[in-house]
This record gives sequence, structure tokens and C-alpha cells, in this order.
Amino acid sequence: MQDRPSLGDTPPEVFRKQVHQLADWIADFREKLGGLRVAPNDKPGAIRAALPSQPPENGEPFEEILADIDRRIVPGMVHWSHPMFLGYFGWPQTGPGILGEIASVPLNVNAMTWRTSPAATELETLVVDWLRQWMGLSEQFGGVVYDTASVGIMHALAVAREEAAPSTRKLGLTGRNLPRFRIYTSDQAHSSVEKAAIALGLGEENVQRVPSDAEFRMDVAALRVMIERDLKEKFRPLAAVATVGTTSAASVDPVPDIANICREHKMWLHVDGAYGGGFAILSEYEWITKGWGEADSIVINPHKTLFVPLDFSILFVRDLERLRRVFTLVPEYLRGDTIEAEKNYMDYGIQLGRRFRALKAWVIWRSLGRAGMAARLREQMRLINLLVDWIKADKRFQLAAPVVMPVICFRFNGSGGSPNRQSASDRPRTSSGNIDDFNSEIVERINASGRAYLTQTKLRGRTVMRIGLGNVLTTEHHVRRALELIQKTVQDMEGRAPSRP
Ligand SMILES: Cc1ncc(COP(=O)(O)O)c(C=O)c1O
Repeated sequence: MQDRPSLGDTPPEVFRKQVHQLADWIADFREKLGGLRVAPNDKPGAIRAALPSQPPENGEPFEEILADIDRRIVPGMVHWSHPMFLGYFGWPQTGPGILGEIASVPLNVNAMTWRTSPAATELETLVVDWLRQWMGLSEQFGGVVYDTASVGIMHALAVAREEAAPSTRKLGLTGRNLPRFRIYTSDQAHSSVEKAAIALGLGEENVQRVPSDAEFRMDVAALRVMIERDLKEKFRPLAAVATVGTTSAASVDPVPDIANICREHKMWLHVDGAYGGGFAILSEYEWITKGWGEADSIVINPHKTLFVPLDFSILFVRDLERLRRVFTLVPEYLRGDTIEAEKNYMDYGIQLGRRFRALKAWVIWRSLGRAGMAARLREQMRLINLLVDWIKADKRFQLAAPVVMPVICFRFNGSGGSPNRQSASDRPRTSSGNIDDFNSEIVERINASGRAYLTQTKLRGRTVMRIGLGNVLTTEHHVRRALELIQKTVQDMEGRAPSRP
């Protein structure tokens, strides 16, 4: 009889060899990471063009596929875990985080109900409660793990909508003569607020952006005025979204004042602590949690600040049953698997199938402990404060926002004169454009060099450079190098640098 190809899985002895090979590959990658380019400089489409476009008809050996990952994929990556990746909020990649993620892969469960995955369900409840305790939230708050904060806010506002317009889950929004609902958030808040309004049929335009003050915190007096105006025009205030750690400057809105207004007008209060919320594990940041007890929902992304690999976001709701009431729906084929449950997480959102995200959080949080995470966050603050001092000492640069968390926004302000004469320095004075373009070009050049990765943003309409620290591999040496790189880039561009009047 002829040998037939195996229709099963890789033979165990071969698989063992491959897993070891992959383990070595991961360890090698981590070792060489600091020497790689942070970002590729390819044109869009170049990576795809180097790969066969026709789908494989026959299987290929793992060794060949792994070699192609090295050859084709790794060079095409922006390496978020690189110590010189200083974009966004930095990126908290750690050894234990990788191990935790890997451990969940062979388990490959679907944690839709307790019965289909008891340990995944109960571990989710456990780690959510660890975070609740660390955040100092009362037991009134229950939580659920989603992939991202954008999904979290959408679910939170779905509950707000249901409570303001009962039976919406059943009847929908149309043909019911409902008022137009309004959601208020600051001009610094994340665009996920509008995304949620789009998804929920509340309308992007009904997200009203409240001006922020000189320190990029929501101006509560302006919020009051906007609500009064809307009430006169027969809009219905539905919710306010307060941010703890805004996307550009990491500023913190006055949550207690916003909570008072929400109470007065019976509005839902959502606290977006996607980035900044995690800092509540530090005693010196207890102030950021003021007013959280008044919130209806709070979102925190441990994948941004608390060392869990992407994706891992927790939505807390005061009385989690409110969320369950809006989303529970048990089709017949799942009924048998929903009885006698500790909790069925499929009831707490639109997702039915759910992967075992809690495992990686359990592994990394046990590995570091609160104290280990706190020490690392404090080191990020030490480094960002050094950078603040260095930037202040170079008169060509100016801080563009107060530094509240390990995020710094700053601006090249021209190569002479007083750093405070910003408005005059905004006049176009080089062939390439104005000082905004110049700041933008500094970032573009550095990112194209592959030696570091920064981001740029706009504050009060001005382009600023931005560095965020979140990676345990980023040390004082790297931060110093980043500044030198910026200074060198300015020098290279100096021939056409806008000079201050
Ligand atoms: C303040 C804030 N909220 C929400 C989000 C959205 O986060 P996610 O990517 O988890 O949806 C971000 C993203 O950076 C953010 O900065």
C-alpha cells in the first residue's frame, strides 16, 4: 500500500522541535531588537510586492515560513517594542507578557460562557477584580474584558442610551419621537467617542466638543453653557465623557466637577482612563481617581500602561447588571451551555466568541506585582522629567503642554530670540513653509531614519513633537539619544530653519 499523506496534525516529535525553534527565534529577536531599524522606509505596497500573491496550493515546511518571517516580515515592521520607539504612549512589551500570551495559544478556548470555559471565565472575573482593587474602585463596580477602549465606550454608551430611551434594544431608535441626544467631551478627547455615537445611531454631530483650558482640561463652565443652550433647543443631554490622560498631552479632566453636572442633569458619566487610568496604582496619582466613584463607567487599557500585551481593555460599570440587561440574548443552541454559570461573558457585549485574554494579564501581573509595575512607571516619570529639563535648557525648544504623565509635547520654536514669541514665529519663513511644517519634518526625518520613532500632534492648532515612554527597555541612554537625534536633525535642517524675530 502506498504511504498516504497525514491528514492530522504535525507529529508530536516534529512539533516539539518546531516549538523549540520558535522559542529560540523569539529569544533571538528580543536580543537583536535594539539593533534593528525602528521603522522601515519602504513605500506602501513594497512588502506585498515581495511576497507571492497567489494562494498556496500545497503546504510548505515551517522552517521556510519562519525564514520568510525573518526575511520579509520583520524588516517591514515598525518595532513597537524597540527601546527607541517613542511614539504614542510608548509600548509596554515584557518577557512575562510574551510568555502569558504564548501560554493562551495552545489552550485556544472560546470563553463565551462559563460552561464552555470555566477557568477562562473565572480568571477573567479574578483579574478584573484585581484591577478594581488597584484602582481603588468600590465593589459596586464590575468589569468585563474587551479588546479595546473604543469597544468599551461603545458598550458603555449603549447602556446610557437604553436607560435614557428604554426599550431601544427592542424597538430601535426610529419612528419613536425620541429627542436628539447629546454627548459632551473635551476638544482633547479621543475620537472613539464619535465612533461610538456613529455605531449606536446617536450621530457623530451630537458629540459636542467642549473647549479645554490652558492646561488642556475640560472647561467645566463651558460645559454648563453648552448644556443650557442644548436644553433650550430641546436636545437631551445623555452623557459626558471625562478623560484621564488625554491622547495628545495626557491631561486630566476635572472629573468631580463633571460628575456634579452629570448628577444635576441625570447624565451618564463615562471616564476614559484608557491611557492614564493605570497610573492610579501609584499613591502619588491618587488625585486622578477623584470622582471615579460617581462614574457610571470607566475604561482602562492595561495594554497601554499596565504591561499586558495588546489587546486587553477593561470596562467597569457601576452595577454590571445594567450592561448585562442591554446585551443578554441566549439563542437556543447555547441554552444548555448557559445554565449553572458563574458568569457568561457573552452576555456583556456584542461579542459571542471570546479568547482567553485574562491569562496573559494574570501571568504579567503575578510576575511584576503592583510594586514592580509601580517602580517601572516611576522610572518612566523620572526619564520624562529629565527630558523636560534637557528641553528647557535648549532655548530653541519649548514645552507645549504641562507634563502630567510620561508624555511630553514640545516644539522647535525657531533658532534665535525669545522662546515665548510663538505667534510671530508661526509666520511662514522658509521655502518649505512655516514652523509647523518644520516641526513635522523633524519627526518625519527621524522616523524615516529608522533610528527612533516619534509622533506629532496638534495642540491649539500648532504642530508639536511628542514623545511617550512606556517601554521597560527604554533607558536614560535611549532618551538622551532621542534628544541628540532631534538636535542633530534640526542642525541638518538649520540652513533653512525658521529663525525667531
Ligand atoms: C484617551 C484614549 N482613549 C481611547 C483610546 C482608544 O483606545 P483603543 O485603541 O483601545 O480603542 C485612545 C487611544 O490611544 C486614547 O488615547
